[in-house]
Amino acid sequence: MENSITGLEEPHAAANADTAAPESTASTLAMATHERMSDRAVGIRSYVLRSGRMTAMQHKALAQLYAQHGVAWDAGRSIEPRELFGEEAPLVVEVGFGMGIATAAIAAALPSTNFLGIEVYAPGVGKLLSEIERLGLKNIKICRHDALEVIGAMPPSGSVTGFHVFFPDPWPKKRHHKRRIMSAEFIRLLSERLKPGGYVYFVSDWEEYAEWTLERLAAEPLLANAYERWATREPWRPVTKFEQRALIEGRAIRELKFIRV
Ligand SMILES: C[S@@+](CC[C@H](N)C(=O)[O-])C[C@H]1O[C@@H](n2cnc3c(N)ncnc32)[C@H](O)[C@@H]1O
Repeated sequence: MENSITGLEEPHAAANADTAAPESTASTLAMATHERMSDRAVGIRSYVLRSGRMTAMQHKALAQLYAQHGVAWDAGRSIEPRELFGEEAPLVVEVGFGMGIATAAIAAALPSTNFLGIEVYAPGVGKLLSEIERLGLKNIKICRHDALEVIGAMPPSGSVTGFHVFFPDPWPKKRHHKRRIMSAEFIRLLSERLKPGGYVYFVSDWEEYAEWTLERLAAEPLLANAYERWATREPWRPVTKFEQRALIEGRAIRELKFIRV
């Protein structure tokens, strides 16, 4: 569907009704830590800004709980994982968690791992904040900002145990491929932030985007495929409603797991 404001199609409108503006557009400074992200720094975003409605609960959660569970975006701040949570534990970063359904379920299933969820979509941030409170989760922090900038600026090299990228917007039209988050440059950035033995776990219901990503992950010398080709589902990754719908509609779910060498 074409977006009347931007002229862009909405590839995963089912997963997100809209997308909130990031808190800051100070991209140039953040990208200084990773020069090859410069094309992103001049304004190519992997998401579209749309106005959206938040439920009263999401609004309240965002207003009251972000101070406690949120991480303020700061292009000049590098954070060690132990500083984020006040303890030594593996850190997994999720890129674009949407409504945070998988994030909360995975954090509950893996209590000894800490999770930093990054998302620009305000209702999703509100929803995950309320789930953190409802479930009493101590191992999730949220940063409401562009993931490219956050990962470019905040986690030190070799500090992250895993990256989760679940059902990223596929940007199916060729002229929009430059918006796809899994660019070679972003993959290089993720690889640099990973500890040796750390992983990138990507899942998509868009076959061509999965193939496209496989090609780029396989071309990254810092990574090795943990499988011959497609990975199998991790037992702790839940099947979300969005994913169930894709399966009903006959789309295959493709998973990729690459390890930092
Ligand atoms: C199609 S949705 C998938 C959401 C979720 N991972 C799921 O499986 O349902 C993609 C999400 O990525 C977010 N996103 C895209 N680019 C982003 C970026 N650069 N930084 C933060 N979030 C981003 C969008 O706002 C959207 O919520």
